[in-house]
Amino acid sequence: MQRAQPIEQILYISTVSPRETVDLPAILAVARRNNDADAITGLLMFNGKRFLQVLEGPQDAVERTFERIRRDSRHRAQVVLARKTVEQREFGEWSMAYRDRSHRDGAEIVNDICSKTAAANPNLRAELVAFARQLQE
Ligand SMILES: Cc1cc2nc3c(=O)[nH]c(=O)nc-3n(C[C@H](O)[C@H](O)[C@H](O)COP(=O)(O)O)c2cc1C
Repeated sequence: MQRAQPIEQILYISTVSPRETVDLPAILAVARRNNDADAITGLLMFNGKRFLQVLEGPQDAVERTFERIRRDSRHRAQVVLARKTVEQREFGEWSMAYRDRSHRDGAEIVNDICSKTAAANPNLRAELVAFARQLQE
């Protein structure tokens, strides 16, 4: 029997390009459409200056998607913080969850990220929670 393709997970940060007015609803609409079609799940956070994104799914699809995202001129200085193969998805229920500073619900964001990432690797979880905390500042 053929083994299922491994699930690859990429966590990266990037910086919004100078003079770029970020149209997040547009980015999210395209991301969700493509990610649904490619069985990619994940999380995108934006603090007004930096993006933090987790992409996970079949290896080929994640590589292809990340290559497209890397070339996107709306952001720059993409730095991969973690790249690994996981046994199962850690963000399975999110086609591309999203949080930014307009989520003024403060502690609720941090709690949400904490509970949704309970199964995630502790280092990855710490990165996400720290970024989510920054959104409150
Ligand atoms: C911060 C950021 C995150 C993005 N995330 C995704 C994503 O998760 N999936 C995706 O397909 N495109 C994402 N994009 C958009 C891609 O860079 C690219 O514009 C898009 O995939 C092109 O899709 P199209 O050929 O269907 O128009 C993102 C762009 C930015 C700036």
